[in-house]
Amino acid sequence: MTKIGIIGAGQLGQMLGYAAKKLNIECIFLDPNLNSPAKSAGEVLNYEFSDLEGIKKLSSMVDVITYEFENVPVEAIDALGSKFVFPGARALEIAQDRLKEKKLFESLGIPVAKYKVINSFDDLQNTASEINYPFILKTRRFGYDGKGQITINSPNDIAIAWSQLKDHQLIAEQMIMFDYEVSAIGARNISGNIASYPLTQNKHKEGILRTSITKNDNQKLVDDAYKFHTKILTELDYVGVLALELFVVKGKLIANEFAPRVHNSGHWTIEGAHSSQFENHLRAILDLKLGDTSNLGFVGMENLIGAIPNGLKSLNPKEYFVHDYGKAPRPKRKLGHVTVIATTQEERLEKLQKIRVILENKDLN
Ligand SMILES: Nc1ncnc2c1ncn2[C@@H]1O[C@H](COP(=O)(O)OP(=O)(O)OP(=O)(O)O)[C@@H](O)[C@H]1O
Ligand SMILES: [Mg+2]
Repeated sequence: MTKIGIIGAGQLGQMLGYAAKKLNIECIFLDPNLNSPAKSAGEVLNYEFSDLEGIKKLSSMVDVITYEFENVPVEAIDALGSKFVFPGARALEIAQDRLKEKKLFESLGIPVAKYKVINSFDDLQNTASEINYPFILKTRRFGYDGKGQITINSPNDIAIAWSQLKDHQLIAEQMIMFDYEVSAIGARNISGNIASYPLTQNKHKEGILRTSITKNDNQKLVDDAYKFHTKILTELDYVGVLALELFVVKGKLIANEFAPRVHNSGHWTIEGAHSSQFENHLRAILDLKLGDTSNLGFVGMENLIGAIPNGLKSLNPKEYFVHDYGKAPRPKRKLGHVTVIATTQEERLEKLQKIRVILENKDLN
């Protein structure tokens, strides 16, 4: 039986593990958390990510290694060798640092928001001479769910933002007044074949993804997004699923960031596409033929943040696919998601609306 090692055992690892079971593949995870979501999908080795012993042990047990989050030490991935771990070290290194990411985008002719590297208080104070207010001060590394970001609307915000983030490597970037956000998600296998999902439109609240819906009503936008996506995959000789996050402004695309892994905005593919992003990630790293990425209707996904209301139990499980990652509730924490598939846009909206009413009522009994 093929064995895959997965660094990280959060919900993404869990869903990779479930997809692996369907393909008759065994997953072994590595995660310092004793009670991680992926323990329901396979054995979990408990080591810190920075402990090279753990990665060594994992590599002695499996045929190939992948990771479900981008803060794995690049040195550890590099040391494993380019034929054993996917995506490779270069993709990981770039994805870990917003500056390297932006430079990659620029080198490929992919538009990015105006930005400035901030190395000192002076740099930050002078930002407004290059970038108009409002702009966002972001840590270059370790950000997720909007953490490590402060919006600067005027000179009055500078001192406090600096005091909060000054211990990090920083970048300031133009706040884009986007019409909406999309992500391009697709897989490339070892042989270089690519399979792309329909474009996904995403809505965030307080920096956290809330809702994703499939969006294929604008072919030009789809073509542009996947032209960029393919450029990145090809440049990095990338293997696995990659998600590219983009802002849409008057029909034009501006790249925000990419994730070298399966992505929250692709969770709808579990029930809403023939082959899920999790299955295709596994297929890609094993150099199997990639599965059909087309959507099975108007698909939508709503994240369950902070709590999983009991009211969701009243929904028909054949129409509302509720995923509970088994995590302890905590404010702003992603605990699960619900996917719906509809035959019309209106029906999708109605179904998502029904979920939101339950979430807003917060029926936690
Ligand atoms: N320059 C920007 N202009 C406008 N909105 C932005 C900008 N940067 C970030 N945002 C908003 O904040 C969200 C989160 O930012 P970003 O993706 O950079 O951070 P993150 O913490 O890595 O998020 P995640 O890991 O959840 O994708 C974006 O999806 C977008 O809604
Ligand atoms: Mg993001």
